[in-house]
Amino acid sequence: MAPMTVNLTKLVGAGLKRMASLRVCGVVFVFAIVCILQRHCSVLATVSSKVHIVYMGERRYDEAKIVEDSHHEILSDILGSKQAAVGSILYSYKHGFSGFAAELTSSQAKLIADSPGVVCVIPNRILSLHTTRSWDFLHVKPYLENGILPKGHMVVGTPSIIGFLDTGIWPESESFNDEGMLEVPSRWKGLCEEGEEFNSSNCNRKIIGARWYTKGYEAEFGKLNTSDGVEYLSPRDAAGHGTHTSSTAAGALIENASFMGLAQGSARGGAPSAWLAVYKVCWSTGGCSSADILAAFDDAISDGVDVLSVSLGSSPPSSTYVDDVLSIGSFHAVARGISVVCSGGNSGPYPQTVTNAAPWVITVAASTIDRVFPMAITLGNNQTVVGQALYTGKDVNNFYPIVYGEDIVATDADEDNARSCDEGSLNATLARGKVVLCFQSRSLRSVASAARNVQNVEGVGLIFAQFPTKDVSLSLGIPCVQVDFTMGTYLLTYIGTARNPMVKFSLSRTSVGKEISPEVAFFSSRGPSSISPTVLKPDIAAPGVNILASWSPASPIIPSDTAHNQPPLNFKIDSGTSMACPHITAIVSLLKAIHPNWSPAAIKSALITTEDKYGLSAVAEGAPHKQADPFDYGGGQVNPNKAINPGLIYDIKTEDYTRFLCAMGYNHTAISWMAGAVAPCRKKGNFLANFNLPSISIPELKKSITVSRTVTNVGPVASLYVARVEAPPGTTVRVAPSLLSFNSTAKKLTFKVSFCSRLSVQGRYSFGNLFWEDGFHVVRIPLIVRPVIEDFYAET
Ligand SMILES: *[C@@H]1O[C@H](CO)[C@@H](O)[C@H](O)[C@H]1NC(C)=O
Ligand SMILES: *[C@@H]1O[C@H](CO)[C@@H](O)[C@H](O)[C@H]1NC(C)=O
Ligand SMILES: *[C@@H]1O[C@H](CO)[C@@H](O)[C@H](O)[C@H]1NC(C)=O
Ligand SMILES: *[C@@H]1O[C@H](CO)[C@@H](O)[C@H](O)[C@H]1NC(C)=O
Ligand SMILES: *[C@@H]1O[C@H](CO)[C@@H](O)[C@H](O)[C@H]1NC(C)=O
Ligand SMILES: *[C@@H]1O[C@H](CO)[C@@H](O)[C@H](O)[C@H]1NC(C)=O
Ligand SMILES: *[C@@H]1O[C@H](CO)[C@@H](O)[C@H](O)[C@H]1NC(C)=O
Repeated sequence: MAPMTVNLTKLVGAGLKRMASLRVCGVVFVFAIVCILQRHCSVLATVSSKVHIVYMGERRYDEAKIVEDSHHEILSDILGSKQAAVGSILYSYKHGFSGFAAELTSSQAKLIADSPGVVCVIPNRILSLHTTRSWDFLHVKPYLENGILPKGHMVVGTPSIIGFLDTGIWPESESFNDEGMLEVPSRWKGLCEEGEEFNSSNCNRKIIGARWYTKGYEAEFGKLNTSDGVEYLSPRDAAGHGTHTSSTAAGALIENASFMGLAQGSARGGAPSAWLAVYKVCWSTGGCSSADILAAFDDAISDGVDVLSVSLGSSPPSSTYVDDVLSIGSFHAVARGISVVCSGGNSGPYPQTVTNAAPWVITVAASTIDRVFPMAITLGNNQTVVGQALYTGKDVNNFYPIVYGEDIVATDADEDNARSCDEGSLNATLARGKVVLCFQSRSLRSVASAARNVQNVEGVGLIFAQFPTKDVSLSLGIPCVQVDFTMGTYLLTYIGTARNPMVKFSLSRTSVGKEISPEVAFFSSRGPSSISPTVLKPDIAAPGVNILASWSPASPIIPSDTAHNQPPLNFKIDSGTSMACPHITAIVSLLKAIHPNWSPAAIKSALITTEDKYGLSAVAEGAPHKQADPFDYGGGQVNPNKAINPGLIYDIKTEDYTRFLCAMGYNHTAISWMAGAVAPCRKKGNFLANFNLPSISIPELKKSITVSRTVTNVGPVASLYVARVEAPPGTTVRVAPSLLSFNSTAKKLTFKVSFCSRLSVQGRYSFGNLFWEDGFHVVRIPLIVRPVIEDFYAET
């Protein structure tokens, strides 16, 4: 939505509150309010029908046909005839849960919201994508003895089926050749749907399912027009994103992969023996409709996937757990034992921006790897500075004059804007043939925009000074080098003092193992979760910066880059929590193969409690550089090989998730429909604090609080664990009992943790750890506490 003025925002906020009380929430009404204020958008104001999702929770009947009939019945009552009902339904969700998507006016939506059995009516929304050496960096190597890959891949169990909700797949990519793959398992019930440039021969023993969903998207934007060749009405990937994420998780080994010669080496997915099921819900515009996403969840659950990987989401603010299709779809998937892994969003480094934060999903943060792409810049005075660039073009080793943006400001443009090379701020006569230096600013944050603006005035290169980050932008047209502010200032001094300032670029190189890593990427969305701060989010960090993986040759490397006639590329280096998510997906699928009986919560616990490098080298990118904490990376940087054998797990059952929703204060009746259980809401108590998560978050510690957790022994039957605590600063922490003795009858044991605040002022979040140790396993959970004083708001 376009930015709004302050008073408008307030009004919209008030409107949202009213809508929430009607249990019909979201975008349509907001538009209506904006329109009334602007008095000139009759088109929007008269829009009558819009796609709504009518969510009805757990299925009341086993037979899909009967579930579908019940949808027609409800809708016939509102629309007046069965024919009208059938005509307006886009999807009946009837396999994994019950509900439907239909075109409804807002008053019809309100009526349906009050019908029996309806949990919530949600207007269709548009979500967006959270846009290989990384596997060696995580030590998921074929030859590592007792590592996760030999176990998951070759020794035990059957591989997992991974479902991807993404932009589809480029089936011809070498990553998806099925050599050595096992036969499609008989439990698989999915389909290989045909469509434009995609037929059943495009599925194989690697890509075992492929479906595509357009109804929600087209209802929003009109028919997809594929005649210009930038989209396919089929599972074929025109955007590249889905090919990238699925090859990262499950691609076959490819020798000698590279992005135009950079990051050269063999590329492979983390779980090369896993089967892939493709659910294309996002289109090359980057948009994904929530009605389509929910249909994909419904199909994936009944098709029989083991893991779902979802690298997309909505931007903050977060919707409630019953208004968000990713939360709803994943709830039903997890209830059936399917792990759901989601990207946490790219809205960092600001706090409280993490999305996809339901406690039943695994929410992934992005970290850096030890690979960088240095490029040397030689000055006319023979000094050399080193920046970063992904440039392999020809324009190197020539000296060019260098100018500062501010010194070539266009007439009528603002000097401030010229300093950061904003659009239209530079004088083409003065920029032509020169390298331009500019500084990141509030108005211009992205090096890619600066590069485009410099190219438009025929500059021959860009040096972009910005806060330190390893996230390097592709530069195809002109060399485009990222340096930090210190180097930028040095160059500025050089320009100011040299008689004839000149620079020349060298080729980008690939440098591995020389950088401190991992760091949490600056763009990675941060906790605490704005919707339930007692649930630590994100859960875990994985590589998501400069990841090389397969790409769709139909997709231009730089969107709208037509000028450079780049040959189609089969690989691309990309960054985002979108790229981090499939790394965790692969590890989860390997863990499932090794431990087929573990619940999604047990697998998540194993990932979170076994990280061992926490706090040692991890820092959080972005200004200011600081030691990373659980709001940056959850449990920490994933340690796949240790996750196989975590010793103890913090398990959670589906009914605990429904009790969690009750404790959150959601309508009891609605939750019991959602879970298909009778009255799950018992006494309130302190459920939120005692929810058996592998972390303890106390957003408001007044004086003291005692919480409990239960651990299940998955290690040797007779084990003795001892507690060790690193108390968050400002608190005292006690664990009772401090010894846990497991035997053949005592497999699950409960303990209590008491927190006592030692502060008499309003505190900030502080962080500690609780360890259970048996001499072999170190089972760690983060402790997150914010001490508050009771009379903070009292008048003095
Ligand atoms: C699928 O398409 C390819 C290429 O167009 C064609 O060679 C093949 O025969 C088709 N297969 C089927 C089963 O239609
Ligand atoms: C689809 O797009 C092409 C070119 O972009 C245009 O010529 C054609 O009329 C469009 N078709 C429809 C049905 O809109
Ligand atoms: C690897 O790829 C690069 C660039 O694509 C190419 O120049 C080189 O010859 C290839 N090497 C091998 C061994 O195939
Ligand atoms: C510049 O430096 C190089 C090596 O660092 C040296 O060989 C060369 O003579 C220097 N040139 C000047 C003009 O100082
Ligand atoms: C650009 O600079 C030249 C030379 O100083 C000047 O003549 C011209 O008017 C400027 N044009 C713009 C658009 O600023
Ligand atoms: C909860 O939802 C049910 C079903 O829509 C409704 O009848 C009931 O009044 C709601 N209860 C509260 C407290 O809002
Ligand atoms: C197992 O441990 C529990 C207490 O931790 C103890 O009461 C019980 O007797 C033990 N059982 C066996 C078989 O050792």
